[in-house]
Amino acid sequence: MTYRCECGYRSAKWMGFCPQCGSRDALTEDASALGRGTPDIVDVRAAVGSVRHHDPVGLDEVDRVLGGGIVPGAVALVGGEPGVGKSTLLLQMAGSFAAQGRTVLVASAEESVDQVGLRAKRVGLDHEGVSLVGEADIDAVLAAARALAPDLLIIDSIQAVFASDLGSTAGTVTQVSECAARVIAHAKARSMAAILVGHVTKDGGIAGPKTLEHMVDVVLYLEGEDTMGLRVLRGLKNRFGPTHGLGLFDMRSDGLSEVVDPSAALLSEWRGSVPGTVVFPSVEGRRPVLVEVQGLVAPSQVPQPRRSVRGVPPARVHQLLAVMQRHAGIVLSTSEVYVNVVGGVYISEPGVDLPVALALASSVFDVPLGSVASWGEIGLTGEIRAVPNERRRREEVARLGIERVVAGKKGAPLGLREALESLFSRSR
Ligand code: TYD
Ligand code: MG
Repeated sequence: MTYRCECGYRSAKWMGFCPQCGSRDALTEDASALGRGTPDIVDVRAAVGSVRHHDPVGLDEVDRVLGGGIVPGAVALVGGEPGVGKSTLLLQMAGSFAAQGRTVLVASAEESVDQVGLRAKRVGLDHEGVSLVGEADIDAVLAAARALAPDLLIIDSIQAVFASDLGSTAGTVTQVSECAARVIAHAKARSMAAILVGHVTKDGGIAGPKTLEHMVDVVLYLEGEDTMGLRVLRGLKNRFGPTHGLGLFDMRSDGLSEVVDPSAALLSEWRGSVPGTVVFPSVEGRRPVLVEVQGLVAPSQVPQPRRSVRGVPPARVHQLLAVMQRHAGIVLSTSEVYVNVVGGVYISEPGVDLPVALALASSVFDVPLGSVASWGEIGLTGEIRAVPNERRRREEVARLGIERVVAGKKGAPLGLREALESLFSRSR
């Protein structure tokens, strides 16, 4: 007897939890392993025949993040906060994929068929090949998929569908995992691609999608602020391609439109002439994208001054504040500190350290940096280190006409104190 977890982990022993994905659900008996003989064993060199191809969706920003397109039999999860535009994006992907001669079945478990129809009109979906089923029972959805045999099945959302034989309500971890497992099994058996929509709250509150990330082949997140039109599609996991692409869109009244020159779009509202802002050429995947990093330092009356960080990991900013105090003499322990990356973009590369430090220093000294772009990782001894993709960053900065670069150099590590002194010397 074999026991298995929804994430795919198998064990010869029963356990009350899963050591692979950390799920607290007990392992269940693996019926598929019953009565089986020896599995197929292949020579690794002959196995390449099974490598699958990508079918382009037809939207460049999506295809880039997917590493070329949709892979038949693969299952993707598109996560994001409610209202960010997941349903809109997927409907547009469905239309575009259909325009490539493919068939798509959209299972809408949250919205009525009428609501989806209205949205389809709004985004100008006008191609045959996209079918719709308003159904929340996963077995009914899969029955429709069996009948239609589409190239792509979209489930909107995985939290809203349920397996009627399970008893628990839709949206629980058990339901979400079981429904996903059924879709995955169907997709693999029939070489049909599937996309699951998953809602995620700001603090990553819903447990379902995290478990799902282990189960699916591809994980994408759609990010953005509700106030701004910019939406970022980010690849977090991809078993069939690179993971670090970014797709950029603008949310308009007729749906998401692809942003052709993201750097220019992001910089269109940049005011380099005020203190507390600097440009950072981020390289996510192959393409550099300029973003604006802002810092604000204000006096505080309370013993534990406020720190608010958006768009970069808060722990890095806290470390940076300690380094600035210890190695550059900038003491911010009695000040409120705000850091923001404009446009709702999230930057995880360490090269954003120096721009954050410069933006904060510019705010402290009340001196604008002007037309400056910056990158570099700051170490615990206050040294500024070089980061990869130097040439691509320089080219993008030059293309957008930014005059000056302050960056970590290979082999000649500059100290944070020297860098700040040379930038702000005139004013101190
Ligand atoms: P939606 O795709 O429903 O988000 P999600 O599925 O992630 O919850 O869209 C969210 C918002 O986008 C909605 O508040 C309205 C706005 N929107 C537009 O601005 N333009 C459009 O063309 C559409 C369809 C939606
Ligand atoms: Mg939706």
